[in-house]
Amino acid sequence: MPDPEAMLPDTLLLPAHVLHTRGAIRKLLPECLRYGRRGLILHGRALETRGTVASLLGPAPDGSDLVILRHQGGEPTVAELDALIQKIHAHGTEWVAGIGGGSVLDLAKAAAALANAPRDPWQYHDGAPLETPGIPFIAAPTTAGTGSEATVNAVLTNERTNCKKSIRDHSMMARIVILDADLLTSCPHPVIAASGMDALTQAIEAFTSRHATTFSDALALEGIRLLSANLLPGWENPESPHMDALLSGSFLAGIALSSARLGVVHGIAHPLGSIYHMPHGQVCAACLPHAIDLNREVIGRKYDRMSQTIGTDLQTFVRQLASGLGLGRPFAGLPVKDRERIIAETLSSGSTKANPKTIDRKDVEWMLDRLFRI
Ligand SMILES: [Fe+2]
Repeated sequence: MPDPEAMLPDTLLLPAHVLHTRGAIRKLLPECLRYGRRGLILHGRALETRGTVASLLGPAPDGSDLVILRHQGGEPTVAELDALIQKIHAHGTEWVAGIGGGSVLDLAKAAAALANAPRDPWQYHDGAPLETPGIPFIAAPTTAGTGSEATVNAVLTNERTNCKKSIRDHSMMARIVILDADLLTSCPHPVIAASGMDALTQAIEAFTSRHATTFSDALALEGIRLLSANLLPGWENPESPHMDALLSGSFLAGIALSSARLGVVHGIAHPLGSIYHMPHGQVCAACLPHAIDLNREVIGRKYDRMSQTIGTDLQTFVRQLASGLGLGRPFAGLPVKDRERIIAETLSSGSTKANPKTIDRKDVEWMLDRLFRI
């Protein structure tokens, strides 16, 4: 347990270079090509509604050798990662850029990390430590967001076992992050809602984590302020400057969670997300009010600090926000499938271990009862 008054975490990992302005995506190629002429760019489907990726990035400089791939959508799997690593080897790729939501960024990040790895990716997903750093990873999020641009893990699903967990290594931090709110204007409304609730959950869980420090608290609380004030109006109007604030808030929450970790919402959200095939942010939104109830006594004055930052009672606010965004109660009335698996994976999760209240089996049962009752 770290010193609760600690200013800094034991280890601090940050992106080396952050470009934060509208139009910054045009700088991606000139910056990336400093790492080598052979690059692989993985992007999401939504980006193409803004024109071709090549036109978005601007002309490729002479001598550059780029492979541009579109992710087919859905939660990324280890099999997809394996296929991407094969492409990297065949091409001799020197850097990997991800332009997309959390799935695209996580897949690109993991592929860059494992580019030089001697084992197959399923072994790292099973927990084998990464022996050697990979190649540079560049992140340009098109959602706000998972905070993947600021973290050193990639969440993937093993398609053989349906187990969703992270590959993690300190070498996985993005070398360059491009925060360009122009990339968010084509984001579909349900994605803005779900990813925004993920970001807000991450800011709240980082702020209340047992590993929180003065450093992570400052960033997490500012993330809570930006996300709470701008999520609903940004969802209503994705062309508005609210999206700049959401992108900043999501990035700050990502840095905060990278150093402070998360809590039980993320512990239970992974098994629930894989079993029910529901967007991660929607699962987070459903679980967050119950986790706040569980943790309220333990977090003490931090509850009041969050309420003061938001300008109203935290618990009332998160419930009203999720409902206003149309996220509702997705598990209400469904049968609880794989109860024992959900409990086991929640209790063994690193996120759950960072939760301010020590979580036991009874707590997980209590959350499941609250989530699934009509
Ligand atoms: Fe999350």
